[in-house]
Amino acid sequence: MLDSRGGIMTESIVKEQEFTVEEQPILQITDLHKRYNEGKSNEVHALRGLDLEVKKGDMMAIMGPSGCGKTTLLNMIGHLDVSSGGKIIISNIDTGKLSDSKMTAFRRDNIGFIFQLFNLFPFLTAVENVETPLLLKGLKSGVAREQAKMLLRDLGMGDRLYHYPLELSGGQQQRVAIARALINQPAIILGDEPTGDLDSTTSAVIMALFRRINTMNKQTFVLVTHNRWIAEKCDYIVHMTDGQISDVEYGPFQED
Ligand SMILES: Nc1ncnc2c1ncn2[C@@H]1O[C@H](COP(=O)(O)OP(=O)(O)OP(=O)(O)O)[C@@H](O)[C@H]1O
Ligand SMILES: [Mg+2]
Repeated sequence: MLDSRGGIMTESIVKEQEFTVEEQPILQITDLHKRYNEGKSNEVHALRGLDLEVKKGDMMAIMGPSGCGKTTLLNMIGHLDVSSGGKIIISNIDTGKLSDSKMTAFRRDNIGFIFQLFNLFPFLTAVENVETPLLLKGLKSGVAREQAKMLLRDLGMGDRLYHYPLELSGGQQQRVAIARALINQPAIILGDEPTGDLDSTTSAVIMALFRRINTMNKQTFVLVTHNRWIAEKCDYIVHMTDGQISDVEYGPFQED
């Protein structure tokens, strides 16, 4: 086999290249800082030179005391807010170099959000909320509807498809938000206490679904949680203290 310059490519080089692609980080964060109210007397230095690398297909948990910067970090990765310094590379793209409109499209196509405020559209039913990202992508409405229904059924919401958010319990709304974040099959899914409003049985169903998606599609999960049991369902746990990463624990963790 010849390489692009006409040289002979040995099998070991081919293997090495394959290995490199497989191991490529999907997310690289270098020296990330976030200061709220910068320069004012009430300035908070929430992220203090944080470095993090996440490989494609990793399922990782972030834990740490209240106020240590977990939500701030997710907001930075999802580009819902601007950083005060540092670099974020997602799928080899230096996001700091994207224009606002390119960033909006990049975020829509690559990142799924499951956040504490579910941000469901109040005037759309559960199934309409979930199919919206597919319709925005240009899928035919019948196809989008079927996919949305299937995912909601997977999440135990088959009998609530046509309810409006206000007619659903907190945990049911959370499951609609989860379905909406997953439906597009984004490369990275960010969750801030994604099972926070759910009982332990439903949480276990959701975590199993996350793992199934993760294994099937190599989608990457970054999940903030205060719950050790949820964290141990991930491949590793990143501990944060005071705006920095203080420790990483690698699984597999004990089965319960
Ligand atoms: N919009 C803001 N303006 C000013 N300070 C903020 C703002 N958002 C967060 N902070 C501060 O930044 C620090 C990190 O907040 P963050 O929300 O990231 O914490 P967290 O680790 O997610 O905590 P929790 O576990 O309670 O959700 C906190 O000290 C918080 O008070
Ligand atoms: Mg938080």
